[in-house]
Amino acid sequence: MSRSHLRHRRMIGTLAMAAAAAILVPLSTANVAAADTARPSHGAPASTLGRLAAAHGKYFGSATDSPELSDAAYVSILNSEFGQITPGNDMKWAYTEPAQGQFVFAKADNILAMARAHGQSVRGHTLVWHNQLPDWLTSTAWTAPQLDAVLKNHITTEVGHFRGEVRAWDVVNEPLNEDGTYRQTMWYETLGAGYIAKALTWAHAADPAAKLYINDYNIDGLGAKSDAMYNLVASLKAQGVPIDGVGLQAHLIVGQVPSTIQKNIQRFAALGVEVAITELDIRMDLPRDAAKDAQQAADFSTVVGACLAVRTCVGITIWDYTDKYSWVPSVFTGQGAALPYDENLAKKPAYAAIAAVLSTHRTLAPRPGRS
Ligand code: G3I
Repeated sequence: MSRSHLRHRRMIGTLAMAAAAAILVPLSTANVAAADTARPSHGAPASTLGRLAAAHGKYFGSATDSPELSDAAYVSILNSEFGQITPGNDMKWAYTEPAQGQFVFAKADNILAMARAHGQSVRGHTLVWHNQLPDWLTSTAWTAPQLDAVLKNHITTEVGHFRGEVRAWDVVNEPLNEDGTYRQTMWYETLGAGYIAKALTWAHAADPAAKLYINDYNIDGLGAKSDAMYNLVASLKAQGVPIDGVGLQAHLIVGQVPSTIQKNIQRFAALGVEVAITELDIRMDLPRDAAKDAQQAADFSTVVGACLAVRTCVGITIWDYTDKYSWVPSVFTGQGAALPYDENLAKKPAYAAIAAVLSTHRTLAPRPGRS
């Protein structure tokens, strides 16, 4: 047997062993290491979080932002590792309609072109929110009919511009208070709770194929706020409003992942809507240490596993992938390190844990011999 045949056979043997390990071996340190380091001979990653998730029929994506796109090392990982992209800021009202009736989509267009070139799906974020609104909008005392028209025009124009390019829209963002009552925003105060149904209806008219979501934080586990979201979605469905999904932002804290997250994801399936984990990060008190990293790795694994366990959970987006560009330290003093890559773009234990759960979790596809 020639040397090249031998090399070939050894390689096949190694790949077969790796594949068998991915299927059979339960989550373990050894497997975590294998998921992180297994590489084919040409040096490219053996797999990526995006590809591992796709094997389950789900996506694994990242948020990104225009200023970061000048960082070549960052972009290289963004484009190779992830199967889905959410623009973190560039689709928000302050940037897309900075003056009334004047729409600016260049930065978002740029991100979408990049995503398209790399086969990544896109989540549109976000159409109706109380933050990052332009001054012309917040400084005017609108009557209800006026604000109705302003909102309709914004949604119709923006969703229409991106028609066919966006898999899912966060149509309404953060409409609820912690106790489950409606947040007192300019939308709610001027238009009443009906603004939510209107926004969804206008978005559907502008892009009938896009999946339309309501997105919020602290609705990841069971509780008053997620109960309110459940009731809101049930009521919208009962009225025939086009609502397709609920976004669980999942801005979480190390050691405090809600134990009911899978149950919560599951219950929305009964309403006939999908769920997405839309902004996952898991922050810790700084500085990092090995114990916090290990707990964070376990926590990421729990969240990803919960999505994998429920067929109607369509995918997971982390709120950027590196601590270099995380929003957390600027808002939570003394906290951070919330993502699977560190500030130097090196993988943290959380990366290996995510890869491992994506590699070892039994998918819901039927196994041979079973119906
Ligand atoms: O646009 C200005 C720019 O003109 C100025 O030079 C610069 C100076 O700091 O600030 C820029 O605005 C910043 C903006 O991001 C765009 O970079 C704001 O200061 C900053 O507060 C803003 O933060 C964003 C935050 O939403 C606003 O609430 C974060 O990047 C973004 O990651 C974050 O994302 C939100 C989701 O949309 C909804 N869920 C929570 C999540 C985290 O807060």
